[in-house]
Formats: sequence, C-alpha cells, structure tokens
Amino acid sequence: MAVLVTGGSGYIGSHTCVELLNAGYDIVVVDNLHNSRVESLRRVREITGRAFKFYEVDLLDQEELDKVFLYNHIEAVIHFAGLKAVGESVHLPLWYYHNNITGTLNLCKVMQKYGVKRMVFSSSATVYGTSGQVPIPEDAPLQATNPYGRTKLMIEEILRDLHTSDPLWSIAILRYFNPIGSHESGRIGEDPNGIPSNLMPYITQVAVGRLKELQVFGSDYPTMDGTGVRDYIHAVDLAKGHLKALDKVMAESGVDAYNLGTGRGHSVLELVAAFERVTGRSVPYKFAARRAGDIAVCYADVSKAKRELGWAAEKGIEDMCIDGWRWQSSNPNGYQQEIEIAVK
Ligand code: NAD
Ligand code: UFG
Repeated sequence: MAVLVTGGSGYIGSHTCVELLNAGYDIVVVDNLHNSRVESLRRVREITGRAFKFYEVDLLDQEELDKVFLYNHIEAVIHFAGLKAVGESVHLPLWYYHNNITGTLNLCKVMQKYGVKRMVFSSSATVYGTSGQVPIPEDAPLQATNPYGRTKLMIEEILRDLHTSDPLWSIAILRYFNPIGSHESGRIGEDPNGIPSNLMPYITQVAVGRLKELQVFGSDYPTMDGTGVRDYIHAVDLAKGHLKALDKVMAESGVDAYNLGTGRGHSVLELVAAFERVTGRSVPYKFAARRAGDIAVCYADVSKAKRELGWAAEKGIEDMCIDGWRWQSSNPNGYQQEIEIAVK
C-alpha cells in the first residue's frame, strides 16, 4: 500500500516526501518535471535512506496515469501537481486552466476507477481574494482575482461535488499561506525558474549575489512599517501538516478545508531584518511601487487545523531564514549546479 504524491519533485512535494518516508509510508511519485528536477528526488532518497518509485508522467496523459494505478497499490493521493505562478497565469490562462483542472479531473477519474477515494489537495490562501479580513477563517467568503487562484477555487468546488456524488470520498483541502524555508539538511529547497517572483527566494538570491537588490513593493500600507504583512510558514511544518491531513482522510470520509499557516503576520522589512540577523548577510533593498493585486495584510486563523487535525506550526521566521539560507548558500544555483558538475 502506497501514497501517491503528484508533483512530488517540486518544492513542497519533495519536503512532504521526506516526512512521509521518515514516518514509514511507502510512496510513489508522479511528476512531469515541468517545474522541478529529478535531482530533488535523488536527494529525498539521500536524506531518508529509503527508495521509492518515480514516474515521469504528465497528469494530462490519463493513459499513463492509469498505468501508475494499475502497477501500484495506491491507497491515498497527495495532489501537489499544478502550475503556480500568478503573473504567468494572467498571460497564459488557458494553459493554467487546462493543466490544473484537466490534470485534476484525470487524476480523480483514475482514482475513481481504481476505488481510491482519499485525497489531500494543495489549495492556497489566494482563494480568500482581497477581502483583507484577518485572521482569515476557512469559512470566510471565497473569491479569486487571477486565473491561478480560480483554478484552485474551481478544483475545490469539483472536489466538493465529487464528495456529494459519492460520500465515501475523503478529501482534505489544504490552503497554504506563504511557504518558505527548507529542510534542515540544506539538500532540498525552493528552486524557482528565472527571476523569483516571491519574496524569500528573492532575498536569498540577493544575499548569495545572484541578484543586486530587493525591491520592496509598497511602503505605505496600513501596517506597522508600511510594508505588506504575510503569514510565512516553514516548508517542513507545512509538510507535516500533510501527514496529519492524511491521517484524517484515512480515518473518515468527508470534505473539509484547512488553513496551514502560523497564524502570525510578518512584514517584508521584518523578514529582511530577521534574515540579516540570523545569517549575518546584508540584503540591500529599495522601495518600489505597490505590486498590482497585493493586499496589505494576510494571516490565517489556524484554530481549525489545530482542533481537527491536531497540527500546529512549530517553527518561527528565524528558523525559516536560517534553513532557507542553508539551502541557497550551499546550492547557489539550485539543483542545476550538481547536474553541471556531473556532466564535466
Ligand atoms: P512546484 O512548482 O515546486 O511543484 C509543483 C510540481 O508539479 C512541479 O514539480 C511540476 O513539475 C509538477 N507539475 C505541474 N503540472 C504537472 C502535470 N500536469 N503533471 C505532472 N506534474 C506536474 O510548486 P510548489 O511550491 O511545490 O507547490 C505545490 C502545490 O502547492 C501547487 O499546487 C501550488 O499551487 C500549491 N501552493 C503553493 C504555494 C507556494 O507558495 N509554494 C502556495 C499555495 C499553494
Ligand atoms: N514582495 C516584495 N518584493 C518582492 C516580492 C514580494 O516586496 O520581490 C512582497 C509582496 O508585495 C508581499 C510579500 O512580499 O507583501 C510576499 O509576497 P510573495 O510574492 O512572496 O507572496 P504573496 O503573498 O504575494 O503570494 C504567495 C504565492 C501565491 C499564494 C499566496 C497565498 O505566490 O501563489 O502566497 O498563499 F496564493
């Protein structure tokens, strides 16, 4: 019996694979490697000392996906696979809708065919839109402001309809806030393609000398220092949340959404200061205009996850900065570096 991890070679997926393997689960990973490298999975194996199967399969290829279920005894699925860049989704909406929604439909159809009805799904705090209510509970009004966010909202609806049609389905929808940081080994981490659009990888790439300076988007928000406030959560805490959600879907049927965050907000300047303090590196920055679509403050009400999953984040922003820096400083070019060395 194994847990299928779609998108398992990506940032959050690889961290969750480590936790699953360390907890004794057998896993099978499916990823088309569009936004990740197989090197991450080699390192998951190195960290855990455990072997597992990897299929380079696209969820859009239902026939190949079917074979994964045919040849393995899958009991539950953790579904990370998807495209996630907000800006890109605005320019390429059809690709995002096709990849994220058709990919999920194919997965659900194959799961249904093989009688696998337990799923943990990666949603996002982006489904809360721009209301600005804080802390945000799971029953806050939902609203998406870009195609990426709409794929998450639509998939949430699809999963609820699936459960209505067959109450034996058991689905946990996890709404992540702002995942940052890396496994403490420094061997796996976030490896964005091109110039990062998110704050933490931008900070680490400035600190390592790949980028000149950080632009802080907005200095006039109604926050303690004028910069945007977010609920940053350590990738390892987030990964552990998936194991708690897995326990829940294994134990009972239903469909429920859970916020995964720390419940605390930190400003851009607070994160920069914490990073400089714990790493001893300076992060030059300048203020720039607000980024379109950004809200001032966003942090989670995490009481439901604590109450119903028995999960709470344990790590603070200093841990996130130390671990994020360990990954970036020992892999200045992400996973690419090791591949280049191997070729020589
Ligand atoms: P990631 O891009 O590192 O990982 C996603 C993985 O899915 C990649 O390895 C990619 O190659 C794979 N993939 C994409 N489309 C696929 C397809 N059609 N078939 C097979 N594999 C496919 O992203 P991540 O940061 O690890 O995010 C994982 C999930 O969590 C995503 O669904 C994302 O939308 C969601 N999420 C991420 C964040 C964040 O800030 N990282 C926040 C909220 C939600
Ligand atoms: N920021 C900067 N400079 C940068 C990048 C970001 O000042 O170069 C600021 C933003 O304005 C914001 C904060 O840093 O105030 C965090 O920005 P991120 O881009 O890191 O994260 P967001 O909160 O905008 O969005 C992220 C994901 C979304 C997801 C959302 C909620 O990118 O996909 O968290 O989970 F929906």
